[in-house]
Amino acid sequence: MYKTPQIIEFNKIGSSQLGFITVAEAQKNVPFKIERVYWTYYIPQDIIRGGHAHKKLQQIIFAVSGTIEFNTEDIEGRKFDFVLDSPNKGLYIPKLIWRDIRFSHNAVLLCLASEQYNEQDYFRDYTEFKNYKND
Ligand code: TYD
Repeated sequence: MYKTPQIIEFNKIGSSQLGFITVAEAQKNVPFKIERVYWTYYIPQDIIRGGHAHKKLQQIIFAVSGTIEFNTEDIEGRKFDFVLDSPNKGLYIPKLIWRDIRFSHNAVLLCLASEQYNEQDYFRDYTEFKNYKND
């Protein structure tokens, strides 16, 4: 049974008077050891990014600013859509999830990743992804 993507609500420490802090800690509220952090920004509003899946990589993705929409599909064809519209919402994406991503004009995506960057870990061809079975 493959895992499916899901929203994780992270705690907000603080108040609307003073502002908030949200914390991600490996193997506490993040279910893997964080090997890499990257952020994506200045994405034009009409651009669709993603268009790939990963063989091994797990991620938690935040919209630290703006709104980010995900259309996902797992290797068994289950489709789920998600909207990140608050900095304390993380989208957990297990391995083997195809995703398309749309950004609002002011969006900044922050990703916590379980592996270092490796282009060999990507499926960039949808048909190749759908034909893959690793068990
Ligand atoms: P990609 O993961 O396809 O981004 P998105 O899901 O936002 O469309 O990566 C875009 C390009 O950046 C691709 O050429 C690979 C490169 N890249 C790195 O070199 N290192 C990294 O850690 C990441 C995430 C991407």
